[in-house]
Amino acid sequence: MERTFVMLKPGVLQRRIVGEVLHRFERKGLKIIALKMMQLSEELVKTHYKEHEGKPFYEKLIAYTTSGPVIALIIEGEGVIATVRRLVGPTDVTAALPGTIRGDYAYQTRLNIVHASDSPEAAEREIKLFFEPEEIHPWEDGNARWF
Ligand code: CMP
Repeated sequence: MERTFVMLKPGVLQRRIVGEVLHRFERKGLKIIALKMMQLSEELVKTHYKEHEGKPFYEKLIAYTTSGPVIALIIEGEGVIATVRRLVGPTDVTAALPGTIRGDYAYQTRLNIVHASDSPEAAEREIKLFFEPEEIHPWEDGNARWF
């Protein structure tokens, strides 16, 4: 089953919209199988954003991402990498339509509030970087009938 990595950037906690953003994934019916709050080290963030090293926005991106805690999660399901990218909206927030997370909550690309893996290779690499295997909890839908 496909898995993707999602990170709610520091501004999400600071704006008190963690619940709203997580709700976007849950109301779509997606399955969260790992979730934690982390204060990221500069080293981890630099590894995560290695491909952007040297770009004009790089230093500010590292500073922003380490400026406060983030929420890291893994979502599992068929085709979730593409589904989550569509829910999140494009990186360039001026192109992000209302109804997408970035379209509704972000007006600066640098502060685009969420990161989501853009390919199976990126998802695998990012999940390994942020999570230990024992922090991942796949679960079955059967228990939903009790609620
Ligand atoms: P993210 O999906 O986390 O991946 C790389 C991040 O770099 C991106 O979201 C933005 O936060 C940031 N970024 C990408 N392009 C630009 C840009 N043109 N200007 C400022 N920040 C950018």
